[in-house]
Amino acid sequence: MHVIVAGAGPSGLLLTLLLAQAGTQVTLIEAEGRLDDRPRAAHYGPAGVRELDRAGLLDQVRERGIVPGDMCFRKLDGSLIVKLKDSSQAGTRNAMTSLSLGELGQVMLEAVQRQPRATILWNHKVARIEQNESSVTTFLCPKDGPEVTVQGDYLVGCDGANSQVRRSLFGDLNYPGRTWDAQIVATNVYYPFEKFGWEDVNFVIHPKHYFMAAKLNKDGLWRVSYGEDPKLTLDQVLENQPKKFQMLLPGHPSKDDYKLVSCSPYRIHQRCAEKFRVGRICLAGDAAHLCNPFGGLGLTGGLTDVGGLFDCLVGISKGRCDDSILDKYDTIRRQIYHNVTDKMSSINFNRVSAQDPDRIAREDEFFQLCKEANEDPAVKKKLDEGAYALSHDFTQYWHPQASL
Ligand SMILES: Cc1cc2nc3c(=O)[nH]c(=O)nc-3n(C[C@H](O)[C@H](O)[C@H](O)COP(=O)(O)OP(=O)(O)OC[C@H]3O[C@@H](n4cnc5c(N)ncnc54)[C@H](O)[C@@H]3O)c2cc1C
Ligand SMILES: *[C@@H]1O[C@H](CO)[C@@H](O)[C@H](O)[C@H]1NC(C)=O
Ligand SMILES: *[C@@H]1O[C@H](CO)[C@@H](O)[C@H](O)[C@H]1NC(C)=O
Repeated sequence: MHVIVAGAGPSGLLLTLLLAQAGTQVTLIEAEGRLDDRPRAAHYGPAGVRELDRAGLLDQVRERGIVPGDMCFRKLDGSLIVKLKDSSQAGTRNAMTSLSLGELGQVMLEAVQRQPRATILWNHKVARIEQNESSVTTFLCPKDGPEVTVQGDYLVGCDGANSQVRRSLFGDLNYPGRTWDAQIVATNVYYPFEKFGWEDVNFVIHPKHYFMAAKLNKDGLWRVSYGEDPKLTLDQVLENQPKKFQMLLPGHPSKDDYKLVSCSPYRIHQRCAEKFRVGRICLAGDAAHLCNPFGGLGLTGGLTDVGGLFDCLVGISKGRCDDSILDKYDTIRRQIYHNVTDKMSSINFNRVSAQDPDRIAREDEFFQLCKEANEDPAVKKKLDEGAYALSHDFTQYWHPQASL
């Protein structure tokens, strides 16, 4: 079997790695000449970490990143609303792990480059696709040179939010869902939050000045993601950033008190493609679905898509199932998006940007649950199990015995 994967983001790299390790020939096609290292994902939940472990990446990821300690919610003045102890499930193999997306991609890329069955085509953009019952052909535009084609048995679009693979299947403007009337500015910054008694993960609730501050690695880099007026242009966002930090961060620092490493504004969306499978073409990761970043469900969901799709493709190639398993992939992964990812991430965003922080502090049921979990291991255990709602084991649809 030859699988073509479009997009060398973390979803595409992980799928390429898993397939190549299982003996499948893979061609990974990437429009750019290098990995995208803008500040985006940083926290990966247990369901996603389990997939990193399956690919043999977890030790290296843990070496570079951290398992965060406690998580808490605060008011804008910094006062504590509630804390959830050990929100990462630190004692477990799949504990939530934090590492910047760029570094995660680098770990994955190095592993892919060691695989003889994986080929990467950099600077090749997927332009259009054709398929029939027996194969799929992708037409690529290289940065320099004429169009080339690559033919394979299956194509997986891991080409991100603006996926050309998804556009080819459903049209340019067809990505059902909604865009929030909000702008999030994601920054990486060196600043000693610990000195102010802040936890490793902090959510500050406010209708306008909501933000998250979370420790990213061992040398004191933090992610601060804050809400900004959606009408501001990029230049206005950058100009306003020092004022925002002075107002938001504990200690009200001026520009010389921290080292800003990066600063990128994003619009946020809740969207899900009509189907994750059409014939020999599948979608995974941001190409298939989007959510706002509060709660770290975006790529965590993408990594679990990829783990599931890997089991489907490897089952087909080993004769353990026929390709109707890809319809299961489509149905179940979309249900998981709607039932879990979309629902939870929307609740998370509405909570952090709540109109009345005082009322939320008093009445939010989740805060009550956190308090109970801190006291009662049985409640904590149930809360922890919720993190695996993103997972689904597709090997249960394999035939019971190996093929002859
Ligand atoms: C501010 C912010 C914070 C976030 N925080 C978290 C978090 O803490 N935890 C979490 O789980 N998620 C988080 N997310 C979401 C996460 O970043 C994304 O879900 C993740 O990056 C998606 O990975 P991907 O591989 O699916 O797509 P991408 O990372 O977007 O990769 C797509 C790749 O495809 C390539 N490509 C595009 N078009 C083509 C084409 N036509 N041909 C060939 N190649 C193409 C691109 O160049 C790119 O390399 C966050 C997002 C944002 C914006
Ligand atoms: C499918 O398309 C490929 C590539 O164009 C071609 O080689 C093959 O013969 C086609 N198969 C069928 C059944 O039409
Ligand atoms: C999603 O929710 C629907 C409706 O409650 C349910 O029928 C379905 O089984 C759920 N799917 C998954 C994968 O949990």
